[in-house]
Amino acid sequence: AVHISDDLTEVLFSKEQVQERLVELAAQIDADYDGRDILLVGVLNGAVMVMADLSRALVSHCEMDWMAISSYGSGTQSSGVVRILKDLNTDIAGRHVLVVEDIIDTGLTLSYLITNLLSREPASLKIMTMFRKPDALANQVEVDYVGFDIPNEFVVGYGLDYDGRYRNLTSVGTLAPHVYS
Ligand code: PRP
Ligand code: MN
Ligand code: MG
Repeated sequence: AVHISDDLTEVLFSKEQVQERLVELAAQIDADYDGRDILLVGVLNGAVMVMADLSRALVSHCEMDWMAISSYGSGTQSSGVVRILKDLNTDIAGRHVLVVEDIIDTGLTLSYLITNLLSREPASLKIMTMFRKPDALANQVEVDYVGFDIPNEFVVGYGLDYDGRYRNLTSVGTLAPHVYS
């Protein structure tokens, strides 16, 4: 029978490791927000898994809203030109907003998002990502909560896709070469 995990060459983070780290981050977020209501803003589609698990690991009151964003570019290289495909339903003015991402790679998506959201005058704006690649550090993209810093490899699972697939993998790892061919 088909099992999507058979397509991995290496597991970087097991389901348990991901969940354990999430619980740590949630406790930190609960402590930092100190009883304030949080508006979680997830970036579709990748952040769906993190949003579901992080929100349930929190004990703070929270609401969830979503944005969909597309970045234009030739081939696999992002151009940094970003367009909103689906905007928030919520007015974030005066709200404590926490952006939730699965991964920050170049940081282009996030840079655009931060500028855009700040113009709506939230009470506060913070960023949480489950994974972060080295380019985000090089580009000095400021992130408040990071699950794991990972090497510059193509990884899938836990929301991260290859051509739309593998998001439903509960672990995170690298794809076997046979998948590409
Ligand atoms: C991925 C990921 C982040 C973004 C990070 O989303 O989920 O949102 O890329 O890349 P960056 O830091 O270089 O901007 P993608 O655009 O692939 O859409 P998806 O979430 O629907 O997979
Ligand atoms: Mn995404
Ligand atoms: Mg993607």
